[in-house]
Amino acid sequence: MGGRKASRVRFWVGMMFLNRTRQIIGLDIGSHAIKMVALRPAKGELPFELTHFGVAELPEETIVDGAIVNEDPVVETIAELFEQHKIKSPFVAASVSGNAVIVRRVTLPRQDPEDLREALPYEAEEHIPFDIDDVDLDFAILSEDEDSDSMDVVLVAAKRERVDEHVAVIEEAKRTATIMDIDAFAVQNAFEFSYPERQFEDIAILNLGASVINMAVLEGGNPSFWRDIAIGMQQYVIALQRQFMLDAFDAEEVLRRVSRGEGGAGTAGSLAEWSADGEEGADLQDAAADPRVIEVIGQVSDRIIGEIVKTFDFYQAQAMRDHFDAVFLAGGGAHVNDLAERLRDRLGWPVETLDPLRRVAVPESQFDPEYVHGSAPESTVALGLALRGVME
Ligand SMILES: Nc1ncnc2c1ncn2[C@@H]1O[C@H](COP(=O)(O)OP(=O)(O)OP(=O)(O)O)[C@@H](O)[C@H]1O
Ligand SMILES: [Mg+2]
Repeated sequence: MGGRKASRVRFWVGMMFLNRTRQIIGLDIGSHAIKMVALRPAKGELPFELTHFGVAELPEETIVDGAIVNEDPVVETIAELFEQHKIKSPFVAASVSGNAVIVRRVTLPRQDPEDLREALPYEAEEHIPFDIDDVDLDFAILSEDEDSDSMDVVLVAAKRERVDEHVAVIEEAKRTATIMDIDAFAVQNAFEFSYPERQFEDIAILNLGASVINMAVLEGGNPSFWRDIAIGMQQYVIALQRQFMLDAFDAEEVLRRVSRGEGGAGTAGSLAEWSADGEEGADLQDAAADPRVIEVIGQVSDRIIGEIVKTFDFYQAQAMRDHFDAVFLAGGGAHVNDLAERLRDRLGWPVETLDPLRRVAVPESQFDPEYVHGSAPESTVALGLALRGVME
């Protein structure tokens, strides 16, 4: 696909004005699952209400390291989601993340936005370690201080190939990508919308996905640092599969049960019994209760935390900050209790689960509230994208 299509989409940082004649659907194409959220302004106490909410898992190896290696299941899953939920609007806000995306906060000489847009490739060359010819670039000016002769700017670069890939599957599913965002901004927006009373705190947000962790830092509400950490929750499933000879489905189920606290101690059958038994769902309860399973999950948590801590160390070395008021967890990994608890112990700061539906009404006539709220952490990116379509 050529540059023509890519030029129709762009990264948008912060709030923007949109023609709101048609609803814009937030569509998060994750490597584990595609999440879809749509909102509309609400009449009650909460600013918005949910109009559509869907999660559909993808087959394994469909998206690897952020790249869509197998288009068909992605296209089919998007088309099915839209059909099932009877979505009429063709407009989609989507996002990319991982190793194809780089975001940097930099200080540049003060200039008009139009001039900066023109100079962007040259400015970016210095800060973005990608070939500038191969990326889509965008920026947002953060500092409003007119008297200063410099200004703080967020530079965003995403490999065009990755953006085109996402635009292509959306178009194949007969939809139009009107906004192309990045996951870290979408979670940051979801947080800012959901927790307005915490806008002056020092906050780190971690979106714990299957293959990547998106990190965003707000210093007293000031967005200052973004990194995508190349490790994800699929490590749990891989480790459980390997250690106990489970298939991916059962390994995932064991992880979910342990995360729900359904493990329980002392009821485990012998490991040989349940791992040798190939029957579907057989003895999964025993597996979840097996102390060796808990141990493997703990080891993976420590490995993931090791990578997270490295990134915090890097951030702190340059920011000279040694404290956060809270670390918010989003993404499927927010369900893994063991990870949240160990992270709290290791970092020493409060760790909370980000609830992206905190200020969104969920009409009970339309949705199963338990299901929707139970899937809230992993729908944070999709909600942040849906907000793009309804916020001014
Ligand atoms: N209830 C749960 N308990 C434990 N783990 C869960 C639960 N739900 C999801 N996960 C794990 O979270 C991961 C999926 O999270 P998420 O949907 O945020 O990832 P993704 O957006 O598809 O991936 P990525 O953004 O990395 O491409 C999977 O690895 C899954 O095993
Ligand atoms: Mg994700």
